[in-house]
Amino acid sequence: MKALVLSGGAGTRLRPITHTSAKQLVPVANKPVLFYGLEAIRDAGVTDVGIIVGDTAAEIEAAVGDGSGLGISVTYIKQDAPLGLAHCVLIAQDFLGDDDFVMYLGDNFIIGGITELVQEFRDGTYDAQILLTKVENPSQFGVAELGPNGGVTTLVEKPKEPKSDLALVGVYMFRPVIHDAVRAIKPSGRGELEITDALQWLIDEGRDVRPHLVTGYWKDTGRLEDMLECNRKVLESVEPLVLGSVDADSQLIGRVVVEEGAVIERSTVRGPAIIGRDSVVRDTYVGPFTSIYFGCTLEDTEIEHSIVLEESTIRGVGRIEDSLIGKQVEVSPSSALPRAHRLMLGDHSRVSIASTRG
Ligand code: TTP
Repeated sequence: MKALVLSGGAGTRLRPITHTSAKQLVPVANKPVLFYGLEAIRDAGVTDVGIIVGDTAAEIEAAVGDGSGLGISVTYIKQDAPLGLAHCVLIAQDFLGDDDFVMYLGDNFIIGGITELVQEFRDGTYDAQILLTKVENPSQFGVAELGPNGGVTTLVEKPKEPKSDLALVGVYMFRPVIHDAVRAIKPSGRGELEITDALQWLIDEGRDVRPHLVTGYWKDTGRLEDMLECNRKVLESVEPLVLGSVDADSQLIGRVVVEEGAVIERSTVRGPAIIGRDSVVRDTYVGPFTSIYFGCTLEDTEIEHSIVLEESTIRGVGRIEDSLIGKQVEVSPSSALPRAHRLMLGDHSRVSIASTRG
């Protein structure tokens, strides 16, 4: 069995981060979200992994390399434009050959892994198997309807009037017959080759498409709120560990990880939180559910329930909450008169400023 991991895409919902970076590499508890998926695949006993890459190919390849660090062997497959999930299968045909495979969306996050699903598919005779979970807002997902024998009867992408509350989670098991399906379907209204259409094609051909209900935690990390939620989930069970230095005037409370080379001075870190390698936290309060990636500087500030990417500096500003801060960002107070917010923000940035006037 092989794996096909989708790590291209446009990432419009996570702009401006995705203008310059791959959303699959946004760290959750200081580990790129993509790595959790690759580890889950490896843990399920699948080591031959094809990764679909798009505009951010160089960054993904630099992070994952040949996969040996994760115990897998990686083949990169370039997708020139994000033409849909089924398009990814189409262009991966040479890599996949006649093997069964698991397809995994690189920005999806599942606690508890996929070992059980992979094993069930290996043991079974289904033509395809899809992970489903109950959601409150099915019209934002691909939605499945099940027949009386428990098989999948219809699949619709983001239906206006959903027929069930069972949404497709980003993991799919396929036999090679899926290649016939992705060749047969046509692009949807939004111009993409939809995997739901390919699955529907299999069903219409009388093939056996089965559900596998996810009982544990799953999240599509396409939006800021989802990233923060995943970060929260992972940090909740992180084991406290101090590899960096913490001075006598600082306090670490609860589950706090201080990575190698990190320096904490005159600060309070209230866990669960993680301070990345070579980051400096000085005269600062870091509150629960915060991940500071490597090489950051936090001085004379307060931050909580946030993710800060590498090499960013936050200095002398009031409390920051619920935020995702990109790489090499600088946040600092403005001393120049007239008093004003001075901003240089990328396209599609979102800023909520606490002070109103004065
Ligand atoms: P999506 O989150 O559905 O799409 P997207 O990345 O374009 O994001 P947005 O909706 O915010 O614009 O994609 C799921 C995963 O599949 C994600 O890791 C990107 C990847 N993907 C590809 O590799 N190729 C594609 O053609 C598409 C559509 C997605």
